[in-house]
Amino acid sequence: MKFVVFSDAHIGGKFNEETFIEGVKYINEIDADYYIFTGDLTDQGTVFEYELAKNKYLPMIKKPVLLIPGNHDVKNVGDLLWEEYIGPRYFVHIDKTRKVKILGLDSNEPDQNTGRMGPKAIERIYKEFEDLDDEWLKVLVFHHQTLPIKYTGRERSAVIDAGDAIKAIMDCNINLVLNGHRHISNVYKLTDGDIKTLIVNCGTISCKKTRYHEEYSITTVEFDEEKLHAKIEVLLLKDNTWVTKFDGDIVEHVIPDDFGELEATIIQIANTEISRGASFSTDIFTKGVQLINSIDCDLVVHNGDITNRSYVREFNMARNYLGLIKHDMIVVPGPKDSFPLGKDLYEEYFGPTESEYTNDKMKILGINSCILDEKIGRIGRNTCKSILENLHSKNKINIIAFHHNIIPLPRTKHDSELQDAGDVLSLIVNGKLNLVLTGAKNTSGCWQIDDTVFVNAGTLSSRSYNNRLGNSFNLIQVYRTKKGRYYKITEFFFDIGESKVIGEFHIYD
Ligand SMILES: [Fe+2]
Ligand SMILES: [Fe+2]
Repeated sequence: MKFVVFSDAHIGGKFNEETFIEGVKYINEIDADYYIFTGDLTDQGTVFEYELAKNKYLPMIKKPVLLIPGNHDVKNVGDLLWEEYIGPRYFVHIDKTRKVKILGLDSNEPDQNTGRMGPKAIERIYKEFEDLDDEWLKVLVFHHQTLPIKYTGRERSAVIDAGDAIKAIMDCNINLVLNGHRHISNVYKLTDGDIKTLIVNCGTISCKKTRYHEEYSITTVEFDEEKLHAKIEVLLLKDNTWVTKFDGDIVEHVIPDDFGELEATIIQIANTEISRGASFSTDIFTKGVQLINSIDCDLVVHNGDITNRSYVREFNMARNYLGLIKHDMIVVPGPKDSFPLGKDLYEEYFGPTESEYTNDKMKILGINSCILDEKIGRIGRNTCKSILENLHSKNKINIIAFHHNIIPLPRTKHDSELQDAGDVLSLIVNGKLNLVLTGAKNTSGCWQIDDTVFVNAGTLSSRSYNNRLGNSFNLIQVYRTKKGRYYKITEFFFDIGESKVIGEFHIYD
């Protein structure tokens, strides 16, 4: 079954009529099963623009289109005009014969560029998809992005609750997510296990606000009858050329029965937040370190927020406490280590803020992603380039570690990640780095995007954890299998004596 997806027409202010008409010509020609528009039909959400859209431009499309609004459509109380001129801001389309369900949601907040799914929309995702058999093709449509997109600057315009949205998408085994908003086309394959989700961002059909060299485009997504294989193509309207963005299976590689040889074991800790205050627990820290020391591993990675407020006494304490860990260790700073004197003290007590560790099995670069006195982080284009130049060892596991998360975490507001998360994610994934370790938000998580595994650590010893099971660290085991590498991530909730496998990924060479 085939989908035609188009987005961000911006009828009115920045509207390019020529490319809209060109795009509509193709939409009318392509024989597809579903035609979907992913928001920003108008530029300012005004009556004038809605009238133009309804009376002049939408009638040019001779196909039935499923539409949801974008942030521009809800400007100037345009959400009420959408209902008046276009119809409901949500839709659910069920095709029982073909076993396809498409849920369209409104991710906008009135008069704001940022989006929010909100608990009701998240609940709706579970209600529509959680108990639906995986034989069905499950499609979710909303305007804003959840994963950071290349060339789009700071990721402040993703949905604020993107972590919860991603969790719902993964929990419900949704096959296809369609978004607009960033005016650039992009495809990522996201998985936390057996089923891949294709996260598809559609470019703009007719908004003059384009990004870099991105051209006006429409996107087609085609699944085979068994829903095991997908092909995604983007039509660049100016050149009339088709570009294939994805052509592959959507079922993830099977976890092997025989793991093969254990290549590397890494213990990942973060957010020790060492201080004399009540939020740091010496007892919990000591208990965690005892367990860490009893595990055979190659390396411990500390993903930052070593101290609570970058005080001298905290760095002093931290050096003594972390000295109790008997394994080799690599450390990167977090924003709590980057208050005004933090960088100087960090270097005095822990050495350079950027570091490297190599053995015969892996190469790992520790990156300083912090900005002085800021919560948000940045890596920067030049550092990214040098990471890729430094991490290209064919036989070794190529790893980078920094503090700020790239993939939004559940139960947290998506606001303190990297300013340049879109560019960094694209470089990491296209550069085929094997493993990315981060440590933000005192919350654990792991995902696979394309061929890269991302793991975020919780907190080892701060009492402000975002997990009902308490303080934790991650054990990452990498096995060499017949076909590639198998990554097993186990989270140890050492204070209550429990552990749980939070991710298993088998990535073929
Ligand atoms: Fe837009
Ligand atoms: Fe938008």
